[in-house]
Amino acid sequence: MKIAVTAQELSAAIDEERDLPGCAALKVAFVPTMGALHAGHLSLVRKAQEYADLVVVSIFVNPLQFGAGEDFDKYPRTLEADAELLKEAGADLLFAPTVDVVYPAGIDMANQQAARNPALQSGEVGKTFEGAARPGHFDGMLAVVARLFELVQPDFAVFGAKDAQQVFLIKRMAATEFPDLHIIEAPIVREASGLAMSSRNRYLDEAALTVAVQLSKAINVGKAAAETLAARPSVAIKAALARIESVPEAKLDYLAVVDPSTFEPIDDAFVGRALMLIAAAVGSTRLIDNITIDFQEQFA
Ligand code: PAJ
Repeated sequence: MKIAVTAQELSAAIDEERDLPGCAALKVAFVPTMGALHAGHLSLVRKAQEYADLVVVSIFVNPLQFGAGEDFDKYPRTLEADAELLKEAGADLLFAPTVDVVYPAGIDMANQQAARNPALQSGEVGKTFEGAARPGHFDGMLAVVARLFELVQPDFAVFGAKDAQQVFLIKRMAATEFPDLHIIEAPIVREASGLAMSSRNRYLDEAALTVAVQLSKAINVGKAAAETLAARPSVAIKAALARIESVPEAKLDYLAVVDPSTFEPIDDAFVGRALMLIAAAVGSTRLIDNITIDFQEQFA
């Protein structure tokens, strides 16, 4: 596995592969990450390998998507171990840029430039759910993802369904800004307990882990209510709420059911596949999870 730090090293490494005999039409799949890699990230690498000949993974903790008082400084940085995991998973190229490679004009200038580009605005959807809890987060996320797409110029980019609102916004941005790029969404990878894997799970001790598991339990209760007891969305939400509220150590932020095509809350007339979203703090660690729920037509 090659490692590139600068933009020049990145394009040279990709061009080198393209210049090999018979590789001119080589397809590139890209997996952007912030490192502290776990099996969820590695599943994206495997998914990328299904689509392309060359898999590029980036590791960059993007200052633009962290708010004041968030965990930018203490976000786990484990580059050596990450590189080892990626090598084992068969990734071809690790792009691990510094801040000045991604934002050559500086962070403030990058922020201003992104704010002037209408395609990089997360808009109304970017102000709800995670965006309500983390103002500016999604605009900073879209800025870095667009910049990384420009640098890597992939044919495919793979994101996890774990961050449902993120992948919704990326698909919408890419549709206009990178029309030839295919965005692939990969399923959530969970611990045996059901807890969705996350780099932030490293912050949790054993007691906190037992609380954190309750997020996935609650949304599964909601799903079961809808799919086995034919509960309507409002009733499914109530069932899930009752479950999470029985665990006072989990400080619930939101629990909602949205239409995946708009990311807006659905009403009880909704039929089809929806997404139940949950976010809660366990101690000082903010956790999110989601699950698809199929709401059937009701026959009176
Ligand atoms: P990060 O949190 O490192 O996640 C990188 C990718 O891994 C995202 O697409 C995320 O949805 C996916 N992922 C995380 N946990 C997962 C799990 N349990 N199962 C499946 N996929 C999972 O998301 C980011 O970084 C950043 O916002 C980024 C897109 C890199 C922009 O900075």
